[in-house]
Amino acid sequence: MGHICPPSVVKWLNSPLRKLIQNPREIMGDYVHQDNTVIDLGCGGGFFAVSLAEMVGKNGRVIAVDLQEEMLNITRDFAAKKKVLDRITLHQCKENDIGLSDDKVDFALAFYMVHEIPDRKRFLSQVVDILKPNAHFMIIEPKHHVKEDQFKQILNEAVSAGLELVKPLKVKGGRGMLLKLGTSK
Ligand SMILES: C[S@@+](CC[C@H](N)C(=O)[O-])C[C@H]1O[C@@H](n2cnc3c(N)ncnc32)[C@H](O)[C@@H]1O
Repeated sequence: MGHICPPSVVKWLNSPLRKLIQNPREIMGDYVHQDNTVIDLGCGGGFFAVSLAEMVGKNGRVIAVDLQEEMLNITRDFAAKKKVLDRITLHQCKENDIGLSDDKVDFALAFYMVHEIPDRKRFLSQVVDILKPNAHFMIIEPKHHVKEDQFKQILNEAVSAGLELVKPLKVKGGRGMLLKLGTSK
């Protein structure tokens, strides 16, 4: 297993100041709508999962997925504090298995997590399987960990998995891409 972000980092990831540079509504508000079912892959302490739960509204659903039980516990507490826990399904996945093949989502997010996945090919093909036909999939990677050529490599792997690039995304501190299912899917 490669480097996995430890729960001790959540105090930075969930800092209210983060919204000043990475505001969830500004980054994903155009792609997430009331009543949607969305998935936050590698949700960490729930910084995005909680905002997504606010965006989908009381009849929407957020599937918050993480490898680490402790991260999911922090997400649960954060969501309860923000009064959106009833819209969130917490799911502990395996390192190389999301394990949600019965669910279909309108939007998928992988924020600062793809570089931590050992088998990206498998991961990307599993994401393809859970996207509804018009869904968007957003990948944001940290600039300091993922150089431009590594990010291009992730895009190539996404295309090989059956996705196509909608557009590159500008996110402070990160490299981003918006994807959707390719025409062959
Ligand atoms: C840097 S943190 C980012 C957390 C969150 N997305 C955010 O931006 O605040 C990366 C998260 O991805 C999770 N992760 C790493 N590998 C994973 C995998 N194979 N499947 C699911 N989650 C994974 C880690 O446990 C960690 O919570």
